[in-house]
Amino acid sequence: MQIVAFTASQLLARSSDFERLLADAVTHGASIGFMLPLDADEAEAYWRSVAAQIESGGKVLFAALGADGSLLGSGQLAFESRANGRHRAEVQKVMVRHAARGRGIGAELMRALEAEARRAGRTLLFLDTSVGVSGAVQFYEKLGYTFVGSIPDYARDPDGAFAPNAIFFKRISVT
Ligand SMILES: CC(C)(COP(=O)(O)OP(=O)(O)OC[C@H]1O[C@@H](n2cnc3c(N)ncnc32)[C@H](O)[C@@H]1OP(=O)(O)O)[C@@H](O)C(=O)NCCC(=O)NCCS
Repeated sequence: MQIVAFTASQLLARSSDFERLLADAVTHGASIGFMLPLDADEAEAYWRSVAAQIESGGKVLFAALGADGSLLGSGQLAFESRANGRHRAEVQKVMVRHAARGRGIGAELMRALEAEARRAGRTLLFLDTSVGVSGAVQFYEKLGYTFVGSIPDYARDPDGAFAPNAIFFKRISVT
């Protein structure tokens, strides 16, 4: 397994793999902005928008690739561009294929995102996930993120039920 930073054109060249990864996560209950059944056009448009953000420098995308090159997972880091927040970045849509979970791939993706944040001089990471079936809360706690709180009924799970979110942060050193 290797973790690779993807350019916009690399992402677009493998967009169907990323669409399948997203569909796998949503099908298994991940609350990452999409409802079931996942709309194929919406998923395609989503990854195109990620490519545009990579191209503009606002975001980095890391992919976890198996020994055969298959896409096992991905994660994103979005850089705050406003003048008073250029020390922070948001961790977004870290997802690992359901069949490949529990093998340390998510943790490897997070290590790559944090190393990238350091390179970019971003010392504060934050994220918003769901208190749901995916185990994301335990995952981020395990990786040293501090739980800030929850907003009740913040978003619907993919099956339509309202669920609270879970907000986390981590300070990282750039040295
Ligand atoms: C959250 C997610 C990315 C974890 O990926 P993963 O590759 O299975 O995680 P790892 O194997 O690297 O686990 C790292 C640590 O997190 C903890 N962890 C991960 N999943 C867990 C779960 N479901 N329950 C409890 N702890 C869990 C483990 O303690 C593990 O530490 P260990 O090696 O000491 O056991 C994956 O479950 C996923 O894709 N979920 C759906 C998408 C999602 O909700 N993403 C978060 C939104 S940003």
